Amino acid sequence: MKYKVICGLLMKLLLFSTLLSGAQITDPFNYLGQKKVTVNKGAVVSAHPLASNAGVRILKQGGNAIDAAIVTQLALAVVYPGAGNIGGGGFMVAHLKNGRNITIDYRETAPAKAGRDMYLDKNGNPQLNLSQDGHLACGVPGTVAGLFASMKYAKLPFKKLIQPAIELAEKGFAITASQADDLNELKNEFIQLNTSPPAFVKKTPWKAGDTLIQKDLANTLKRIRDLGAKGFYEGRTANLIVAEMTKGKGIISYQDLKNYKPVERKAIEFDYKSFHIISMPLPSSGGIILQQVLKMIEKRNIGAMKFQSAESVQLLTEAERRAYADRAKYLGDADFVKVPVKVLVSDAYLEARMKDYTAGRAGNSETIKEGIVKESEETTHISIIDAEGNAVAITTTLNGSYGSRTVVSGAGFILNNEMDDFSVKPGVPNMYGAVGSGANAIAPGKRMLSSMTPTIVLKNNHPYLVVGTPGGTTIPTSVIQSLVNMIDYNMKPEDAVNKPKFHHQWLPDEIFTEKDFDAATARRLQEMGYKITIRGEIGRTELIEIKAGKAKPITAIADKRGNDGAEGY
Ligand code: GLY
Repeated sequence: MKYKVICGLLMKLLLFSTLLSGAQITDPFNYLGQKKVTVNKGAVVSAHPLASNAGVRILKQGGNAIDAAIVTQLALAVVYPGAGNIGGGGFMVAHLKNGRNITIDYRETAPAKAGRDMYLDKNGNPQLNLSQDGHLACGVPGTVAGLFASMKYAKLPFKKLIQPAIELAEKGFAITASQADDLNELKNEFIQLNTSPPAFVKKTPWKAGDTLIQKDLANTLKRIRDLGAKGFYEGRTANLIVAEMTKGKGIISYQDLKNYKPVERKAIEFDYKSFHIISMPLPSSGGIILQQVLKMIEKRNIGAMKFQSAESVQLLTEAERRAYADRAKYLGDADFVKVPVKVLVSDAYLEARMKDYTAGRAGNSETIKEGIVKESEETTHISIIDAEGNAVAITTTLNGSYGSRTVVSGAGFILNNEMDDFSVKPGVPNMYGAVGSGANAIAPGKRMLSSMTPTIVLKNNHPYLVVGTPGGTTIPTSVIQSLVNMIDYNMKPEDAVNKPKFHHQWLPDEIFTEKDFDAATARRLQEMGYKITIRGEIGRTELIEIKAGKAKPITAIADKRGNDGAEGY
């Protein structure tokens, strides 16, 4: 009895001191996400409140934004298995406190046995089930190599950074209602596309609040903790991956795993009005599309047009049409094909691209093709700022929701279906309806073209916005709209993220809108000659605004569209 009272008192004291220090207590079985936090020091926004919370806890323990990025990605691999991953890949864009801008490319690569026509049958017809489902759809994963490449900029030991993910995998966490729905919906695919039933399959239907325990994943994470990147690319984990490939007719080999290398690349950087934008270069198309579209609209003063009026939507749509036509023709892994990036983003070229733009009249993708150059959306984004002024934007992906739906038996993690981001045949749309050309054809070791657009905006040389989103080919257009909403329309950050979004990607020649897009604007656009198609939600944008000279300068916003959570202190 005495013992219980003392314990009770101790618990109260602990709670009181925790409240005084401002720390959140997060119980993985009972948690609530916050959509907006306004704070002084640092913030993390991601697709899952438990992952954001793990990131902020490491900031409070003296970690910087890169430490938080590593913790958050690893936690997402456990609590957000639909897109968080160690079996996929991603991109990190960072602005460091010393003023340096860096990017790390840990995009998946095509295995050595991959070939240009590997998804065509003997008559040359594409077999998209093979590029999208199961073992043959998987690219060589890059995430774990990317985490270790980013350790160069971190402060804390990796063992500390991986611990929250190990605990969440080992002890479990309560799944959300939408996760329960996803797992129930995908049950048959998880059974068909796996050689033994993964942790995501259970006899009775999942419901919100059920505990998901991932013991095999916990053991894989422990091997990575103890052996570093070799704990994934070599030894037992590599054995399990290769055994899984052999059982399911996949082609990833020991050599593919051992050869995987992340790459630091020079960021895409440009000015838009008085802001400096930093984003991801190839093999992402995101930074190039961002630069092309913003530069095509810059002199046309979109801010003077009413927000989402037919006039402003048309201007963005026509710029997007032209940028995505260029994407389809020219963009691919620049380590393998020559891409005329300098020309594509030059003022003269972009000016010429908009010469045939006519306000009030729809363009047409049959006549507006790429310019003449002489030379499931399930992905997930993390935005982070720390108290030292380091800003990190990371977008990471398995490609489709739950990737290939193939879990490495005994290792507990899902493999990507990123091979579908290659152009399996010129002109054949992938799962996002995007078409490509030889520039994005499959070749051994090549990285498939991405749309991921992790982006940082500087104002007077200091981080002002950290932003990004999932959404396949809609990623660049979502990021563009968030930036235009903030910069040209002076919106509050929650409005910039949550207002309805629209999208045009050259082919199909349609403007896709969310359900709450203004009906009168849609009618006016139809009168101009546009085809309007209402679709599901576009993106799940995570945005941080950092305002100079305010008592609480940091506002972190998690998109209303998901269970995403913002945390800060
Ligand atoms: N898998 C989505 C992307 O990289 O764009």
